[in-house]
Amino acid sequence: MHPEVRKPAMIFCFTYLFFYVNTQGFKNFIMGLKEKSTDLRRRMRNALKGGGDKAIQKQKAIGKLTARERIITLLDTNTFHEYDLFVEHAAKDFDMDKKYLPGDGVITGTGTISGHPVCVYAQDFTVAGGSLGWMHAKKITKIMDHALKLKVPLIGINDSGGARIQEGVNSLAGYGEIFYRNTLASGVIPQISVILGPCAGGAVYSPALTDFVFVVENISKMFITGPEVIKTVLGEEISMEALGGARVHCEKTGNAHFFAKSEEECFNQIKSLVSYIPWNNNRKAAKYPKKKPKTKKYNIESIIPSDAREPYDVCDVIRSLTDDSDFMEVQELFAKNIVIGFGRMEGDTVGFVANQPMVLAGVLDVDSSDKAARFIRYCDAFNIPLVTLVDLPGYLPGVDQEHAGVIRHGAKILYAYSEATVPKITLIMRKAYGGGYIAMCSHHLRADFVFAWPTAEIAVMGPEGAANIIFRKEIMAAEDPDKFRKQKVDEYKEKFANPYVAAAYGYIDAVIEPTETRKMLIRALGISQEKEVYLPKKKHGIPPF
Ligand code: HXC
Repeated sequence: MHPEVRKPAMIFCFTYLFFYVNTQGFKNFIMGLKEKSTDLRRRMRNALKGGGDKAIQKQKAIGKLTARERIITLLDTNTFHEYDLFVEHAAKDFDMDKKYLPGDGVITGTGTISGHPVCVYAQDFTVAGGSLGWMHAKKITKIMDHALKLKVPLIGINDSGGARIQEGVNSLAGYGEIFYRNTLASGVIPQISVILGPCAGGAVYSPALTDFVFVVENISKMFITGPEVIKTVLGEEISMEALGGARVHCEKTGNAHFFAKSEEECFNQIKSLVSYIPWNNNRKAAKYPKKKPKTKKYNIESIIPSDAREPYDVCDVIRSLTDDSDFMEVQELFAKNIVIGFGRMEGDTVGFVANQPMVLAGVLDVDSSDKAARFIRYCDAFNIPLVTLVDLPGYLPGVDQEHAGVIRHGAKILYAYSEATVPKITLIMRKAYGGGYIAMCSHHLRADFVFAWPTAEIAVMGPEGAANIIFRKEIMAAEDPDKFRKQKVDEYKEKFANPYVAAAYGYIDAVIEPTETRKMLIRALGISQEKEVYLPKKKHGIPPF
């Protein structure tokens, strides 16, 4: 062939070959991608089925959402980003090698709640009863590590029969790894547990190490050993609900902090809580638009009765102080003689601790001390200032209380307030007697500001008790003991049942009109924003656990 013709012919041949090969390659590539995508979708469909339709229907019949529905309901729309969908268990014994457990019974990932980022996991009861095997635990610990690294709250939705029996010590090891991380994360990121099924053994110890536990009526059950074991070992018969139902843990044990009637209500409560707390211990809680309290409904002058012996609902006082009169009470059903919870003042989150005169006259006892102390430590860890409202006759006397360890438990509140370095503002409304005066964030435990209403009474004990003790001999010797006692009670009242003796020593910074309360608290909180306190250097203290 002539060279002049050969050259273009060769170019043509090479070009043709190039396009032929590459078009085929491209076709093959596209075909391969399609097949792989189909395969991916098939695998995803399998994994997303959970324990299958029958198991899901069983759960639905008792009013439960599926694990995935729970996450979707909790998080902002389209924000859930799932990890480790294809994780599978590696167990072999008891025919486990023949079983496929989608996602190994737990769903993990990230998302947002009202724009706040969170890490989340939800155990899937339809897959081997949500039981915790080694890979299941690895998924949870991975998302926990992620939350700790990203410094965002961790929310665990628990619905599990506990350690997966077939996996033996590996499931126990898995729980150990979770407990260790719960402890490391404590006070660094908020940890929220939701109990949405029968949770046994290890499945309740991890929640117990977290900050807040949410339960739902008729759905949540928590126990270390279930009714069957109790019957076998002790011969006692008890239903699951009576042993560890939602009410039991909210009212009696104090293991749970929030009670809801449905899963939807529970998720709304979590959303509300997340709005009050910061993402981690280096931040402050998000600021919200300022709002005035609803003073028509919550008017401080009409809430407080004129007779100092009459009770009133201290929650109304709190609502008279907070923005829009919002107050999210924590452990509302437990140790009702003390009220704890979150509200906002001028858009900022405040932790409230208040004696409740409606229940046991607001005394401190074993349970109320535990309840308040833990909350104080929570607020301190997460930079939430504390407002303490005082009206109590002191610690509850009685054999039961003494033998239940009121000394040790009562000391927790002293420890928690003393150690807390967040702004601490105290208001004495009426009674502040004895140990109760000191314990409820007095100046001596380093309150930054202590205010008192003119109705405040600050003394070692109430006038009746005091007169009976210090004038016992004189009362017995008097011609008319009752008249003499009354005279001494009145004298004592005149001398001590007011805020001015404490004010004269500087233990109270200002005696204020009740109507000035919100203004004074806001001022005190505002001036305390950059507060710094240096505690002695130590590894850690030894609180009266
Ligand atoms: C493996 C489990 C399981 C477990 C339940 N399943 N718990 N599989 N290990 N721990 C399986 C069941 O075999 C069943 O599988 C499915 O999950 C549903 O369970 P059911 O019993 O049918 O459901 P229900 O009647 O609602 O009863 C739920 C339950 C009960 C109360 C949780 O299953 C139960 O008592 N489980 C054991 C609880 C327990 O003792 N766990 C160990 C704790 S010790 P199929 O295939 O039939 O659907 C522990 C150690 C750690 O956790 C301690 C750390 C401190």
